[in-house]
Amino acid sequence: MKRIAFLFLLFLASQTVHSWKKDEFRACDQTPFCKRARFRKPGSCTLIAADVSISDGDLTAKLVPKAPQDHDQDPIKPLTLSISVYQDGILRLKIDEDPSLDPPKKRFQVPDVIVPEFESKKLWLQSASTEKLDGNNAGLSSVVYLSDGYEAVLRHDPFEVYVREKAGNRRVVSLNSHGLFDFEQLRVKKEDEDWEERFRGHTDTRPYGPQSISFDVSFYESDFVYGIPEHASSFALKPTRGPGVEESEPYRLFNLDVFEYVHDSPFGIYGSIPFMVSHGKSGKSSGFFWLNAAEMQIDVLAKGWDAEDGILMPIDQSRIDTFWMTEAGIVDTFFFIGPGPKDVVKQYMSVTGLPAMPQLFSTAYHQCRWNYRDEEDVENVDSKFDEHDIPYDVLWLDIEHTDGKRYFTWDKLLFPHPEEMQRKLAAKGRHMVTIVDPHIKRDDSFDLHKDASKRGYYVKDASGKDFDGWCWPGSSSYPDVLNPEIRSWWSEKFSYKNYIGSTPSLYIWNDMNEPSVFNGPEVTMPRDVLHLGGVEHRELHNAYGYYFHMATADGLVKRGDGKDRPFVLSRAFFAGSQRYGAVWTGDNSADWDHLRVSVPMILSLGLTGMSFSGADVGGFFGNPEPELLVRWYQLGAYYPFFRGHAHHDTKRREPWLFGERNTALMRDAIRIRYTLLPYFYTLFREANVTGVPVVRPLWMEFPSDEAAFSNDEAFMVGNSLLVQGIYETRAKHASVYLPGKESWYDLRTGTAYKGGKTHKLEVSEESIPAFQRAGTIVPRKDRFRRSSTQMMHDPFTLVMALNSSQEAEGELYLDDGKSFDFKQGAYIHRRFVFSNGHLTSLNVASSSPLGNSRFSSDCIIERIIILGYTPGAKTALVEPGNQKAEIELGPLRFGGQHGGGGAVTIRKPGVRVGEDWKIKIL
Ligand code: NOJ
Repeated sequence: MKRIAFLFLLFLASQTVHSWKKDEFRACDQTPFCKRARFRKPGSCTLIAADVSISDGDLTAKLVPKAPQDHDQDPIKPLTLSISVYQDGILRLKIDEDPSLDPPKKRFQVPDVIVPEFESKKLWLQSASTEKLDGNNAGLSSVVYLSDGYEAVLRHDPFEVYVREKAGNRRVVSLNSHGLFDFEQLRVKKEDEDWEERFRGHTDTRPYGPQSISFDVSFYESDFVYGIPEHASSFALKPTRGPGVEESEPYRLFNLDVFEYVHDSPFGIYGSIPFMVSHGKSGKSSGFFWLNAAEMQIDVLAKGWDAEDGILMPIDQSRIDTFWMTEAGIVDTFFFIGPGPKDVVKQYMSVTGLPAMPQLFSTAYHQCRWNYRDEEDVENVDSKFDEHDIPYDVLWLDIEHTDGKRYFTWDKLLFPHPEEMQRKLAAKGRHMVTIVDPHIKRDDSFDLHKDASKRGYYVKDASGKDFDGWCWPGSSSYPDVLNPEIRSWWSEKFSYKNYIGSTPSLYIWNDMNEPSVFNGPEVTMPRDVLHLGGVEHRELHNAYGYYFHMATADGLVKRGDGKDRPFVLSRAFFAGSQRYGAVWTGDNSADWDHLRVSVPMILSLGLTGMSFSGADVGGFFGNPEPELLVRWYQLGAYYPFFRGHAHHDTKRREPWLFGERNTALMRDAIRIRYTLLPYFYTLFREANVTGVPVVRPLWMEFPSDEAAFSNDEAFMVGNSLLVQGIYETRAKHASVYLPGKESWYDLRTGTAYKGGKTHKLEVSEESIPAFQRAGTIVPRKDRFRRSSTQMMHDPFTLVMALNSSQEAEGELYLDDGKSFDFKQGAYIHRRFVFSNGHLTSLNVASSSPLGNSRFSSDCIIERIIILGYTPGAKTALVEPGNQKAEIELGPLRFGGQHGGGGAVTIRKPGVRVGEDWKIKIL
């Protein structure tokens, strides 16, 4: 008997090595709508655009079948089509069932994602011109203005929508060029029909039957497509169908809690953003966004996939074809013309909103673990950071801190004095984050549950009862956050009065909000569960976590009387989540492959709006060997969101547990982040104003540099720094591609390397390769404190890396790091320009801020390091005041390390950071 038990344990242990439970999740061929769609042949769409006209400023039409229909079939009712045009080159195409033809139900259109300002950007179309391509009606198209130099075209037969450049008729993005469009209309069930779908013992009643939509989208002047997170896969999306592609699933967008996800797979994980960006040799980008929260599957088609379908496509433009399928909802799509990659990102963000400006503390280092056991453990970890001179800002408590997984409560034995615990951290300028998940324990003595059930605030199962699923607390129900009233109720729970034991230095972590349901189909909620207004969960699934994140962030805003910026980390996300906070890439593993894939994952998130994201440093599952852990800290220091985290079964791994040498290496890595906080904060502000992400692919800065297009080992932090991870053990060398024509300076040694080349560099355990681009100025703070808050009044260092014309430029943004006063103009925003041997500080704060709040700072600049300065410099003259400042050859310090070489350093120029000044080098 013992032997059998032993063998069973052995079996279980072997299962946990690679235990992604593929069978728990549906593949495309187990998903009827996906399977059906993938079988369809190009040219099978028979719809043509009829009754084309301009109405209410839109180009509208009906989509009707071309050929008379077979009498045995259900009639295909006309669909409504509308094309609207918005400022900055955005086309919106909507296709839905015609409400005047009495469909059995209104199809779900996702509310609350498009920002209200977007509607005011609508251009009212006055007229459409008609073009005849081949002299007969079949070649008829209606053409409308889109923006200067661009037009939107609706071809009538077969129906196709595309955007083109006026000059030369060059296409940008098109839909249904391959005639794969299909729209399953809602029908009334016939007696002999079985609409149920079964998967692993779960039955989906599908009361409205098949209602999927699919179509092809082509991107022109394109060699690669990117985006559509979240997948653990390469940044440039690999083809999933066509010549040379072995069997592959499409990229799946379906928010799921996938246990031990694998590092190279198109399967869906925690979040979904149906936004794709294309890029190509022309240096141009375009984009396509489908606002739809139902399960989506997307194929990227390999060149030549359409060789036999006989459809004529423009041959003089390189092109990537894609195929989009969804289970439900409507066609509500947006075409973005670019033409630059940053333009596309801005266009997308003008629809879904800009990323929130985070609090300064949240851009620093976070220490998490499942779980810090009790108050003593918290105190101990906190003091060890000080003992080892390692700065950190936030200590996190996972689910075990609660009373039996009842969120908003504390385990009274382990955490008897939560307020005092938070105050002690706050005294050092530190913060705490606690976890609050959406599953509410069904326990009649739990007030939150009593209140929610009494009010009828839970999601309902198909029979109309409160949906009851299994999660951490056991039997649980889930608030219906689609309902604004329920969101408002939820947000009240974060008040100090309701969340007993919380203080102003406490912020929130939303986990499991896909939502995760341990006993549900694919570990989530059944698709026929019901939300407000009879909306089926299948229609809304990918946005559930978005609404939960929104309600929590609103709760923190209310708690602080609208004066304190919220910090909420969420695992699930959807288009628009960038307005509510940060996300991370979930339960990764402590292995080199997961370290490597963290970069393309974070790049994809940034490209699609989620500029505040990171991966668990060290890997969530498993025990990283010290070398991997150190490499992860060295890379993680450049993630926008920088947090160490680990599963409860792993060994403790705080940075001081692996011997002095490793402690020193991790300390240096964390200090690099603290040194660069002023630069990161400036980039977060850039993202907040323009949508351009903090961490970017190389091609976003170097759009014509082909060698950068599929590089996902290296990334840019802002426009100035390039970072290359080390993804293998005992690496002695690294090949680093440095784009562009200008040089790059090693951040630690100041050594210059030529751009436009791959360099084979020696690497040591001390750091990963990181460079500053010639022509840029990076603001830093070089003094080490316990937390970012304590660095508030510290002086700045500017590092100028000069280009071949001996010029450089950079920016610095600062504000109080905490409140919303920056929205009323309470901030400092400077541009530093170096040319002709003069460094000038210019005010670039908006001259007409919305309010008249001001922010001032006593901070001075204590040091200016100049890289690549050729003439011998002796002294510097500071204006106003005509003061002299010394110039010396100083060591190139970085992150606490004394780098090699000597760099020209202006010592103590003493200028104030918020003022106009000029420094001349003599
Ligand atoms: C799953 C999350 O992804 C992980 O980070 C967390 O530690 C556990 N849930 C427990 O809350």
